[in-house]
Amino acid sequence: MKVLLGVSGGIAAFKAPEIVRSLRRKGHAVRCSMTRSAGAFVTPLTLEVLSQYPVYREEYLQPDNNGDELHISAARWADVFCVAPATCNTLARLALGLADDFLATTALAFTGDLLVAPAMTSEMWEKEAVQAHVTTLLARGVTLIGPVVGPLATGETAMGRMADPDEIVTAIEATAKGGDLEGRTVLITAGPTHEPLDPVRFLSNRSSGKMGFSLAVEAASRGARTLLVSGPVSLPTPRGVERFDVTTAAEMADVVDRLAQEAEVVIMAAAVADFTPRSTSETKLKKGAGPPRMSLVATPDILTRLQEIAPNTLRVGFAAETGNLESEARRKLVDKRAHLIVANDVSRSDIGFGSENNEVTVFRAGKPPLTIPLQAKRLVAARLLDLIRQELDGGEPGMDTAGG
Ligand code: PMT
Repeated sequence: MKVLLGVSGGIAAFKAPEIVRSLRRKGHAVRCSMTRSAGAFVTPLTLEVLSQYPVYREEYLQPDNNGDELHISAARWADVFCVAPATCNTLARLALGLADDFLATTALAFTGDLLVAPAMTSEMWEKEAVQAHVTTLLARGVTLIGPVVGPLATGETAMGRMADPDEIVTAIEATAKGGDLEGRTVLITAGPTHEPLDPVRFLSNRSSGKMGFSLAVEAASRGARTLLVSGPVSLPTPRGVERFDVTTAAEMADVVDRLAQEAEVVIMAAAVADFTPRSTSETKLKKGAGPPRMSLVATPDILTRLQEIAPNTLRVGFAAETGNLESEARRKLVDKRAHLIVANDVSRSDIGFGSENNEVTVFRAGKPPLTIPLQAKRLVAARLLDLIRQELDGGEPGMDTAGG
C-alpha cells in the first residue's frame, strides 16, 4: 500500500517517525508531507531517512520529473492519505477546502481515503468551531482516528491526545482493506423524537444524534448500504448514507418497520420517546387557561416489535441509564428481545447525550459484558461495528439467541 503521511505542527509530530517506521516495517511505501510549523517539532531529514523519500514541504509549485505538479502526482500516487497529527488549524483548513500549503492542496487533489488523527488540548478539541469542522469532515467520509484521553503536553490527563502510532497504522491498514460490511444492509436510528403538545410545543430529550450518525458514517465507510432514520437533529447527512427524517415516535416506528425488511442489522441508537400526549391541541395552549392537564400514552416500542416484524435481523438496542446500568441493560436485553444492548451512563456529562465522546458496555446473552472505553463516538461506533460484524459472521442472529 502507498501511504502519504501529512504531518502538521503540534508536539505529537514527534511520533510521526514512529508511524513511518511501523508502516515501512509492514511493507508499505510511505511519503511524507510537512506543514511549515511541523518542522519545529520533527526534522524533515528524520522523515526522509525513514521513508526513503524526500519530504514534500513548500515546493508544491515545482513540477516533478514527468512535468506534473508535485501535489497532483503525490495525490495520484497515494492509496491512503493520513494526517497525523492533525492540528486544529489543519483540521479547519481541510474542512474549508483551503489550498494554502502543500499538505492542504494535496488533500484537495486526493480522491482516495483520507484519515485524520487530531491532537490538541481538550479545550481546543471541545470548541464548537473545531467540532463543526470535524462534523464536516466526517460527513464527507473522512476517517477520524482519536483523539484519546491521555497525558497531554500541558501536563494534565485529558481528551485530546493523538491516538497511538500503532492505532493509527491499524486504522490505515483497515481502510486499505476496504469494506468489511460490503453487501450488508444496516439500518440505524438516531436522535430524539418530538411528541407534539400543540403546534409550538413538544416533549423530547437531549439526544443530538451524534452517536447514531457516527454509526452511520462508520457503516457507510465500511461498505454497508446504510439506512439512517433520524429524528429532528441538526447534523449533515453523511456521505453514502440514505437518510429518512421523522419527527415522532410513531413516524419512526412506521419507517423502521418498513425498512427493517431490507436490513440484516438494526441499531436503535435513537432516544425514542416512551410516552406521547394522548391528544395534540390544534391551537397553541394559552397560559391564561392555567397549566394544561396532560394525559400521556405509551408509544410503540420499536425495538421490541422487531422480533416479529423482521425476525431475521440482528437487533441492537441502546440503553440510556442513570443508575443500575448492568441490571437495567440486562433487563432490556430480555424485555426488548435484542441480541445486543449497548449501555451508556447518561448521568455523566462527558459521555452520552450531546457529547462528542462515549463509553459503553455491550451486553450479549450468554457472553461476558464488554466495555468500550471513553473515546470519540466515531471510534466507539467502529468498535461496535466490529462486534456486530463478528455476530453476523459467527451465528444465526435471527434464531433464538435474543434476550435470555
Ligand atoms: O444522540 P446523542 O446525543 O449522541 O446521544 C446518544 C444516546 C445517549 C441517545 C445513545 O447513546 C443512546 O443511549 N440511545 C438510546 C436512548 C434510549 O432511548 O434508551 P432507552 O433505554 O430509553 O431505550 C432502550 C432502547 O429501546 C433504545 O435502543 C431505544 O432506541 C429503544 N426504544 C425506546 C423506546 C421506544 N418507544 N422504542 C424503542 O425502540
